[in-house]
Amino acid sequence: MDNMKKILVIGSANADMVISSPKMPEIGETITGSGFTVNAGGKGFNQAVALSKLGGNVTFIGAVGNDANSEILAAAAKEYNVTYDVIRLETAPTGVAVVTVVNGDNFIVLDPGANGALTPALIDEKEDLLSQADIVVVQLEIPVETVLHLCKKAKQYGSYVVLNPAPYTKLPAEIFSLIDLIIPNEHEAEGLCGFPVDTKQACIKAIDRIKAKGIKNVIITLGKKGCAFSNGKQVVFRQAEESIAVDTTSAGDTFIGAFCVKLSEGKTYQEAIDFASKAAAITVSREGAAKSIPYAHEIQ
Ligand code: RIB
Repeated sequence: MDNMKKILVIGSANADMVISSPKMPEIGETITGSGFTVNAGGKGFNQAVALSKLGGNVTFIGAVGNDANSEILAAAAKEYNVTYDVIRLETAPTGVAVVTVVNGDNFIVLDPGANGALTPALIDEKEDLLSQADIVVVQLEIPVETVLHLCKKAKQYGSYVVLNPAPYTKLPAEIFSLIDLIIPNEHEAEGLCGFPVDTKQACIKAIDRIKAKGIKNVIITLGKKGCAFSNGKQVVFRQAEESIAVDTTSAGDTFIGAFCVKLSEGKTYQEAIDFASKAAAITVSREGAAKSIPYAHEIQ
């Protein structure tokens, strides 16, 4: 364990309120769904769980409230062996995501709660962890000024910085030179580039555009169409693994966690993407967020 690269995930932790529904209701309509559960989720937390379940040496930093939902996250961190270093706030509740699953697709509305109160000053309280991290993984469910602040610190300490720009928020120009790898999906890539990223040509153009902003390495995830990546001159496309979609929640988080585990083991981008694609295919075949992420031994 001691020789393993240290990965730090800084991001959101949510209680996911999940219900399956035969369709999305019309305005003013009430319909009956089924299978209501409350689970641990949040893009940051899910990515930390993926890293842990798939063999990474991971610590998670986030903010939660002092409430019952925070206990769900603490219990999940224990179950999935995530080193969990959260800040417990009295001033805001734990983040909540209301997830409706319709035919395997998900529709999410979230209240960031404590995630939105994770300030740069609170990050400074965790400077020790930042200074020791080899890889820092961050998303956009915490304030952008905090993301910018921690990217600056991470770069100062020589870490490899991975940004998942989800959900898409306009980014300050100075952040791009601080990021080593960006992993948007097609919608976030559209936000970054200003045009739809819905064809191979558009993917190539988007990757060029993102690189021109100052990020050397780009992976665009494309859901059931796989992904496009570039960590050199070429753009390479990889198909997704076959899978029957039950619930796509946290498929992207699984991909990112799985990819970063292999990166931390010194594997190539191609090898890491093969592993991440297999892991994400398993996640979509199961219900839930953190709980649907596979363990390393489940991946052939
Ligand atoms: O990426 C999936 C996650 O997005 C869910 O777990 C939900 O909490 C939202 O943050």
